[in-house]
Amino acid sequence: MGKRGAKKKDISNILSGFRDDEGNLIPILQKIQKKLGFISEDSVRQTARYLRISENQIFGVASFYSQFRFNEPGRNSIKVCLGTACHVQGGQILSEAVERDLGILPGQTTEDMRYDYEQVACLGCCALAPVIQINDDIYSRMTVIRLKETMDKYE
Ligand code: FES
Repeated sequence: MGKRGAKKKDISNILSGFRDDEGNLIPILQKIQKKLGFISEDSVRQTARYLRISENQIFGVASFYSQFRFNEPGRNSIKVCLGTACHVQGGQILSEAVERDLGILPGQTTEDMRYDYEQVACLGCCALAPVIQINDDIYSRMTVIRLKETMDKYE
């Protein structure tokens, strides 16, 4: 890893901005996620050491908050809507197609970092169901065939 990469991942300046009090866990995690884009294993280790709590305690607390992610984001993010309107229009079939195509489950990132993948509750355009989102682009009335073509456009 180059020097710049190491610097980007270094969270010691975040930790040193807080007292080593367990009550600061959530604000610390928020700052880490803001800096790294996710909560890395290494940052959990460092935070546990700093606050003198176990890594499992950190995962336990953080998993209550859907704002935290533990996987590194991919270059592209695909979200499949499984809200009621999308679900009845085949959202589940789309999400299975994504899982087959990428070989990952919701909350994971492909090994080549091309895609991360989430299921979401509603993307706010139910009249256009079923809907998926890739990065900032919304695709409506999606079909399995169009899904594959659409995903292939993102490198
Ligand atoms: S349920 Fe999918 S956009 Fe609302």
